[in-house]
Amino acid sequence: MIRRSVIQGVGSYLPEKIVTNADLSKFVDTTDDWIVERSGIRERHIAADGEMTSDLAIAAATKALAAAGRDGKDVDLFIIATATPDHTFPATAARVQAALGRPGVPAFDLQAVCSGFVYGLATADNFIKAGQAKCAVVIGAEVFSRLLDWKDRTTCVLFGDGAGAVVLTAENGEGTTKDRGILSTHLHSDGTFYDMLYADGGPSSTQTTGFVRMKGKEVFRHAVVNLAEAVREALATNQFTIDDVDWLVPHQANKRILDSTADKLGLDPAKVIVTVDKHANTSAASIPLALSAGVADGRIKKGDLVLMEAMGGGFTWGSALVRM
Ligand code: UT7
Repeated sequence: MIRRSVIQGVGSYLPEKIVTNADLSKFVDTTDDWIVERSGIRERHIAADGEMTSDLAIAAATKALAAAGRDGKDVDLFIIATATPDHTFPATAARVQAALGRPGVPAFDLQAVCSGFVYGLATADNFIKAGQAKCAVVIGAEVFSRLLDWKDRTTCVLFGDGAGAVVLTAENGEGTTKDRGILSTHLHSDGTFYDMLYADGGPSSTQTTGFVRMKGKEVFRHAVVNLAEAVREALATNQFTIDDVDWLVPHQANKRILDSTADKLGLDPAKVIVTVDKHANTSAASIPLALSAGVADGRIKKGDLVLMEAMGGGFTWGSALVRM
């Protein structure tokens, strides 16, 4: 017998306002053709004035709890992966915890930018395996639009806002890869690439929030290599081949990265859940948003083998292999 962290429910929330590439081209020196060709993005959701990361996170977590047939009171761990907290402190997780009516249990934010959701899953899984939690909510939530320099066309067209959440509960498994739950997680970071993708502000440097700065080509190059490596690591650990995977749920940064990674791995592109066209890059929210889309439209079913992978600022990257 082994303790497994089983995904019991997923949920997501997207702000109402949709901004298309054509809308952007009215105030940014860009075109729909350029954005679609280079990134696969067609539109993104943008939070309303006053709408904060905690609002998105609470909406997504509420839906995930309903899907799991659970209540906020059942939760004994809240983790929010975000690079765009409501305030510098306290953690946005504190607001979510209060709103969901479960004071007293641990609640914290986790910062690994676009890899944040995979880092959050790994952290919650380790709490559950260690017997320190029985029901965890892991949320990826971002209002990334607030970090965008609308005068920098190389970054501002690529990102969007949203949130996704999962509810994990501790279940007993047999210890085989047929068990439902998280089978393994694999995390990496390499701080020597700090300047490749970062926000140029912060409390201890400029006392401002800063804007996203990215060396796109370098990030792209590293992403394809690191993501394929993180996938192979997950497969090798569990003695699977790529053909065993039912669904790849990647971080949605760029359709070209998704295609190159699938090609490098020899994975059928029909097995890749793609939302980047509609959501753009929502950083830590992109994987749970894509997972939620795949579950909601009936593609991802109970028992399916789902591989998640992400890469982001730091650099950070990683994967999680999960039987739904
Ligand atoms: O979440 C993880 C982090 N993010 C990523 O994984 C993103 C990784 N990188 C990428 O997705 C791609 O590198 C981009 C989509 C950011 C850029 O694509 P690219 O093919 O690497 O284009 P580029 O940066 O080489 O730019 C090509 C040209 C440049 O013009 P010149 O110098 O060739 O005349 C840019 O100035 O495209 C120009 N350009 C634009 N043109 C119209 C850059 N941004 C735009 C724009 N609209 N928005």
